[in-house]
Amino acid sequence: MYIPVIAFLLLQSLLATVSAQPPNLTVALDGTGDYRSITKAVGAIPNNSPNLFRMYIKAGVYNENVVIPAKKRIIILSRDVMDKTKIVSTRSWKISGHGIGESVIFIVNNASPEGEQVVALRMAGNFIAGLRCSIEGFQDTLYANHGSCHFFYNCDIFGTIDFVFSVASLVIQNSIIHVR
Ligand SMILES: *[C@@H]1O[C@H](CO)[C@@H](O)[C@H](O)[C@H]1NC(C)=O
Repeated sequence: MYIPVIAFLLLQSLLATVSAQPPNLTVALDGTGDYRSITKAVGAIPNNSPNLFRMYIKAGVYNENVVIPAKKRIIILSRDVMDKTKIVSTRSWKISGHGIGESVIFIVNNASPEGEQVVALRMAGNFIAGLRCSIEGFQDTLYANHGSCHFFYNCDIFGTIDFVFSVASLVIQNSIIHVR
């Protein structure tokens, strides 16, 4: 029980903070935000900051392979309407940050069922959490290759084979795991 409780409390506190905080930065494909690309926006997050950073991603399909390095910490990614913000990546998302709350973002990759394994979300940091995420891939969708204690709540996770695997403690609660 210890790890789920800690992770859940962490997620709850991050989300409570987030609802009270305007975004630090907005990403929009149509130019109405601070950046058009998530990658550029990640570059603008201050390094090693102890403060929460909220990145708001407006509706759109973002064709990017996003890497969030370890020095970008405590980030909340929140998106517009469910199903209207998608990140289509050909490689994986990689999150190495410590204490990132990876929240309400739609993560998808365009791998095919016949193709080779493509990790949609690779977690290499600590305390990565997802709330109302959809993580979609085929082989090896969700992978924690490092770190400790990740938590997913109210998420959908899609895959074909070996699609949730982890060396860290990974708790998935109130979620649907779709075998396709
Ligand atoms: C994000 O913005 C809030 C104010 O809304 C501020 O307190 C916080 O320090 C900012 N985060 C970073 C990492 O600069």
